Amino acid sequence: MKRPGASAALSKHWLKYLQARNDTRGGKRVGKQTVLVTGGAGFIGSHLVDRLLKDGFEVRVLDDFFSGKRANIAHVLDRIELIEGSVADVDVAARAVEGVDYVLHQAAIPSVPRSVREPLKSNHANVDGTLAMLDAARNAGVRRFIYAASSSAYGDTPTLPKVETMASDPRSPYAVAKLAGEGYCRAFTRVYGLETVALRYFNVFGPRQDPESEYAAVIPKFILALMEDRPITLHGDGEQSRDFTFIDNNLEGNRLAMTAPEASGEVMNLACGERFTLNELVAMLAEIMGKTPRVTYIESRTGDVKHSLADISKAKRLLGYEPRVSFREGLERTVEYFRELKSVERKGA
Ligand SMILES: NC(=O)c1ccc[n+]([C@@H]2O[C@H](COP(=O)([O-])OP(=O)(O)OC[C@H]3O[C@@H](n4cnc5c(N)ncnc54)[C@H](O)[C@@H]3O)[C@@H](O)[C@H]2O)c1
Repeated sequence: MKRPGASAALSKHWLKYLQARNDTRGGKRVGKQTVLVTGGAGFIGSHLVDRLLKDGFEVRVLDDFFSGKRANIAHVLDRIELIEGSVADVDVAARAVEGVDYVLHQAAIPSVPRSVREPLKSNHANVDGTLAMLDAARNAGVRRFIYAASSSAYGDTPTLPKVETMASDPRSPYAVAKLAGEGYCRAFTRVYGLETVALRYFNVFGPRQDPESEYAAVIPKFILALMEDRPITLHGDGEQSRDFTFIDNNLEGNRLAMTAPEASGEVMNLACGERFTLNELVAMLAEIMGKTPRVTYIESRTGDVKHSLADISKAKRLLGYEPRVSFREGLERTVEYFRELKSVERKGA
């Protein structure tokens, strides 16, 4: 197609052509938009990478493989650009955002106990890293920066559901750090005009979540225990509840947050707005897997939040978000993944 000259009608035509090609910013670049996923080798990040590729984006990943795995992105390595380094390194951050339209900032050391053991290290990755990425993003003229915030910002106040207008009460160095990231996002929107959206995730689960890690989330841990006919250990009476979010719902929220016009500068919950107790979770998994669970109840863990439930009306209103995959279906799909993984392992052994 020939680029038109000064004629207003033709310019309009040219603009439409650029928009149709997924480029709306004054014709800066023609072609696919580029998204940087920090922490793209992790559980959530690697699913975002898959989703973005499927949606036709160019994808770049920045990860230092602290907890991420090469196996999570091995199947897309020939289709993405991988930068190995830390988000807290300002030179790496600057290189990673070059020519990028959107940043989905997932990189963090996502462990409460680890932050208790090593608060400085946790702060460096989670706060310095977020600040370095925000600063790099504003200098590079990134369109929007989406931040993986955390429900840990609410602390353990008994009030349910958790609404964004509630006072935050972070209890661990991890929670403080994740909350600081939100503050920096808002400040960068107000002070520099960088569009940011902070999404407070609640107990995300699904394929690729690491059951072996020291502080693994309960769902992959329980699935593996049931598969191997091992007992399941529950702290307290098992009546503690969580707003579990299947990964696909989280991906949908992130995708909507990239372009929702009213979302910039906002913090919002991203969850399902439904809670299940750990006892219910075990019963449902056992039923799906056709197993009889053996549960051992031990003492409660100090500092564990008893119940968690998100009010998701803000995400519904500002993003048009609606959780599409039910808890039950999410569990079935996760069980399926671990079954396949086991059978591949068995064949390889
Ligand atoms: N999984 C959940 O339920 C949940 C809940 C609330 C918030 N979050 C947030 O979501 C994000 C993703 O969590 P996840 O569950 O996928 O964890 P994950 O550990 O699987 O992913 C984190 C990724 O960040 C990378 N990383 C860590 N430090 C880095 C650094 N300094 N530089 C570059 N990369 C670095 C890790 O190697 C890993 O690939 C995190 O920011 C976490 O705080 C997760």
